[in-house]
Amino acid sequence: MPVTSTKRLVTEAMAGGYAVPAINVVNQLTLEAVLAAAQELRSPMIVQTSVKTVRSIGLEVLKAMWDTTAARVDVPVALHLDHCPDRQVISDCLAAGWNSVLFDAHELSVEENERQCLEVVAEARAVGAHVEGEIEGIAGVEDGIGSDEQGPIQTLEVAIGFVERTGVDIFAPAIGNAHGMYKAQPVLDHGRITDLVEATGIPMALHGGTGLTAEQFSDLIARGCAKVNVSTALKIAYMEANRAYLTENPTAADPPKLFAHVREVVMEMTRTHIRLFGAEGRA
Ligand code: 13P
Repeated sequence: MPVTSTKRLVTEAMAGGYAVPAINVVNQLTLEAVLAAAQELRSPMIVQTSVKTVRSIGLEVLKAMWDTTAARVDVPVALHLDHCPDRQVISDCLAAGWNSVLFDAHELSVEENERQCLEVVAEARAVGAHVEGEIEGIAGVEDGIGSDEQGPIQTLEVAIGFVERTGVDIFAPAIGNAHGMYKAQPVLDHGRITDLVEATGIPMALHGGTGLTAEQFSDLIARGCAKVNVSTALKIAYMEANRAYLTENPTAADPPKLFAHVREVVMEMTRTHIRLFGAEGRA
C-alpha cells in the first residue's frame, strides 16, 4: 500500500535520523516526476499541494491525479495540503482523502488559532488524517499566502502550550527560515528545534527548504526536523527547463519531447533533495 499516513512517515524519519522530503507540485508532470524520483531512490515522499494548486486544478481532478499516479509506486507516500487558512478548503481536502493538512492560522491570535486548530484536529482524526500546526508566519510569500515581513515570534512556552493543547502531529516553527529564494544565507535558530522537540516529542516541519545548505539540513534534521518543505526549487527547475529547451529548440513542435526534458530536470531536483535529507534507501 504506497499511500500511507503522514504521521507514520515523519515518525519513522525522526526515529531514523532523516527527513521526508515534502515537495510542492504544480501539475501532473511535476507530480509524476517527484514520485518517480522517490521510487527510483527508494525514498518516502510527501507530495504537497498549495491552496492555489487545489483551486487551479480543481480538487476532484487533483485527487484523481494523485490516486492514479501514487498507485504506480511502491514506496510510502502521502498527500499533504500546505499552508491553508481556509477552513472550507481544509474540510474539502480532508473529506476527499488528503492524508494531512497544515492549518495556517498564524494571522489569528494564538488563542483563536488554538480554538480552531482543535476543531481541525478533531475533523482530521475522524478520517484518519493528521495535522501540522503553525502559530508564526514563515517569512516570504508562497503561492499568494504569507508576507515578506517576519511577523512576531512567540515564546517557547506559548509554542509548547499550543502543541500540547491542540494535539497537532507536526509543528512548523519560524526559526529564521523563509519561503522563496534567500537573499543572504539565513541565520537559523537551531536550538529552538531542539527545545521544541524535547518538550513536545513531536517532529518539526522545516519550511523554506530551497537554498539551505547541506550542513543546515543535516543539523536541523538531527534535531528533529523530520519533514522538510521544498517548493521554490521545483518551480525554478520547471520554468528553467522549459525555457532552456525552447531556447535551444526554437522551432520545436513535439510537446512530449519538451515534457521528457522537463521531467528529467524535476526528477534531478527531487533526487538532490532526497539525498540531502538522508532519505535515499529508506523505503
Ligand atoms: P521554499 O519555497 O522556500 O522551498 O519553501 C517551501 C515551503 O516551505 C512550503 O511550505
